[in-house]
Amino acid sequence: MKLHSFFRKKSIDQIVRESQSEHAESSLRRVLGVKDLTALGIAAIIGAGIFSSVGRACFDGGPAVSLLFVFTAITCMFSALCYAEFASRIPISGSAYTYAYISFGELIAWIIGWDLIMEYSIGNITVAAAWSGNFKSFLEGLGIHLPGFLSTSYMEVYKAHIKYMELAAQHVFISDNINALEQIWIKAPRLATYPIILNLPAFLSVLGVTMLVYVGIKESKRYTNIMVIFKVLVILTVIVVGLFYVQPVHWSPFAPNGFGGVMKGVSAVFFAYVGFDAISTTAEECRNPQRDLPRAMIYSLIICTVLYVAIALVLTGMVSYTQLDQSDFLAHSFSQIGLNWFSGILALSAVVATTGVMLVFQLGQPRIWLSMSRDGLLPKRFSTIHPRFKTPSFATWIAFLLVGLPSLVIDAELATDMSSIGTLFAFFLVCAGVLIVQNKNQTIVGQGKFRVPYINGRYALPLILVAGGLIIFLYDSQFYQLVFSLETYSKIYSESIWQVIPYIVFVFASLCIIYFTVRKRLSLIPVLGVWSCFYLITEMGFYNWVRFLVWLVIGLIIYFIYSFRKSKLNNTDNYK
Ligand code: ALA
Repeated sequence: MKLHSFFRKKSIDQIVRESQSEHAESSLRRVLGVKDLTALGIAAIIGAGIFSSVGRACFDGGPAVSLLFVFTAITCMFSALCYAEFASRIPISGSAYTYAYISFGELIAWIIGWDLIMEYSIGNITVAAAWSGNFKSFLEGLGIHLPGFLSTSYMEVYKAHIKYMELAAQHVFISDNINALEQIWIKAPRLATYPIILNLPAFLSVLGVTMLVYVGIKESKRYTNIMVIFKVLVILTVIVVGLFYVQPVHWSPFAPNGFGGVMKGVSAVFFAYVGFDAISTTAEECRNPQRDLPRAMIYSLIICTVLYVAIALVLTGMVSYTQLDQSDFLAHSFSQIGLNWFSGILALSAVVATTGVMLVFQLGQPRIWLSMSRDGLLPKRFSTIHPRFKTPSFATWIAFLLVGLPSLVIDAELATDMSSIGTLFAFFLVCAGVLIVQNKNQTIVGQGKFRVPYINGRYALPLILVAGGLIIFLYDSQFYQLVFSLETYSKIYSESIWQVIPYIVFVFASLCIIYFTVRKRLSLIPVLGVWSCFYLITEMGFYNWVRFLVWLVIGLIIYFIYSFRKSKLNNTDNYK
């Protein structure tokens, strides 16, 4: 093994040629236009995040979470522009995996492919859990009650059981939610001493979506379009109806728990935006991928950002942020203001919205594996295309197993964190990839026209940093006192030394980014993309870093044992 073999690259021409010649008879169906792709993007974005997990973020951060929505949207927009450039250059269905194969070489491509599997599969576990929760609320609204032990994940009940024991030992107040979960723990049937607790609705929802994805892209497109129209209409109704109930008094205090409270919501808010990148996995099913994919990614992100910021402001103005600590916080907020009928519609909409996300993610995973298998990094079966349905059949069922089985037992919180950090890492690499493509290897040209506009970062980056610093200083001088006081650091140190590590790495990385940007006149937009993704990764905390590293190490072991040897580029000088 020579070091340079890990960084062997493919050229765009080579990748396009291979996909056309080797797979001419077994190709996917080209049926998607810009409207379908925008709908797919919206389908993948609006889901579990806005319908359930950001409630907790609003509870922790107060109305100021709307600013976190804006900051996160800006980060996603930098990444979307970089994705769009690659999608325009490379009309092949591997998303960031394929982009990395061209810009960074095989090892990083493998890491990113492995990482995207995590984004979509673990992300879909969160979505399936949210689907199940909303489905239960909807049925309960109709007076139908599912048995708790067959409709809740083991992990959620187990965590609540531990919490219950702690609170009971301290003789303190125990919330209704924890009491209800404890009842499930006590009453569940047992195998030996282990309670049998499974989230069957989550499993079945993944099964249903997989069957649709298996049958065909046309069918998936049709249902996605209908679901998107429905969920966008519901979100617009929430905003318009909610506006009539806004009481500005609820916006004060704007950030009740300060900067730290707002940043607690990073993972949930970022998760709410995840998804627009998934449409780049369908490049080989687009009629004109190089023109339509970049547009669709940007359109879907802009539409969702406007909806999200509006919804965060309306909700935190409608009820006190203290009321939002609920997994069905949208429905709950409307029942708080007496609109119970609307809560039922919201529960149903949440089911529809999460189905859409699941569909796109179940569509995305097999297409990444298809690309990895074509390159020899995964067994050949992963690129089998169904002769009649024209979908990657084997990979679609593996994706089902990877999501469906864990969704029976894993809870949403863990899956959200893992999926968000994995996606941020993929965005980080795509932005860095654009820097490499634009600045290092001019032979990477590609055919499409879209390029990230070049703004020289040499002067612009320092100016932005100084201006940003000044704005924060003028707005909140306490922030500086906090950052520059030794007391803060001794407090953090005494709480947990490990939590400081991500910040130290971030400061060091920021200095490197500034140095290279000024020295090499790097392009401002991808630089800001790299920097903002890194910042959000930092805010995810040390323990998520460790979990993510464990996932990467497992991936690297598979790469060295199997993929490196089996790669089509192995033992050839067919690479650069
Ligand atoms: N953005 C998607 C959701 O919130 C993943 O469900």
